[in-house]
Amino acid sequence: MRKILIATVAGLFIGLFGLAPAIADSAPSLRGTLALNDGAKKFDKKRVVTKEGGFKRSWKLQPPSIPHKISKERINLDENSCMRCHSAENFKKEKAKKIGDSHFVDAMGKKSDKVNGRRYFCTLCHTTQVDASPLVENTFAGQ
Ligand code: HEC
Ligand code: HEC
Repeated sequence: MRKILIATVAGLFIGLFGLAPAIADSAPSLRGTLALNDGAKKFDKKRVVTKEGGFKRSWKLQPPSIPHKISKERINLDENSCMRCHSAENFKKEKAKKIGDSHFVDAMGKKSDKVNGRRYFCTLCHTTQVDASPLVENTFAGQ
């Protein structure tokens, strides 16, 4: 029994370490071949694309991409500055869109007039866009 266990553990190690180079070859790191303790190369900082009228969605229930900069916005326990413009109270005067209807519904389907906690951290789902070429080939086509 013990021998089998040792053999299994040894097998596991060989399996894991044997595989590591294969994974590294097929999934190159964004850091390139730099050693872990070398400073990473500076990357090109891309500008956030702003788009009047917003971005087209790729499918009906896609969280729409953010068509403006958000580097100055703050989302934390004390404040959510996105709501300055997107809340039900403010969206009209800011000429922004009101947050989606689903954002007012809790996990049990109950509606409220406050943004639900599940939708509080906007950038979990909504992201800005930059003009960059894809890191890997992507054949996704929207609807
Ligand atoms: C100063 C006001 C303001 C703030 C703050 C703001 N937005 Fe906006 N947002 C707008 C306006 C105005 C538009 C519409 C732009 C357009 O369509 O030309 C918009 C558009 C959007 C859209 C696209 C909606 C659609 O249907 O296409 C999303 C998503 C969005 N904002 C998310 C956010 C998030 C997330 C934050 C916080 C990180 C945020 N916004 C902060 C004013 C604001
Ligand atoms: C868990 C994911 C998620 C989070 C978090 C989230 N949203 Fe959304 N949002 C969506 C989806 C999905 C849609 C499209 C469907 C809908 O309208 O509910 C959407 C739609 C929107 C729209 C367009 C509404 C319309 O009528 O076209 C705006 C504006 C928006 N969200 C803003 C926000 C803001 C601001 C926050 C943070 C307070 C936020 N969202 C948080 C997923 C999310």
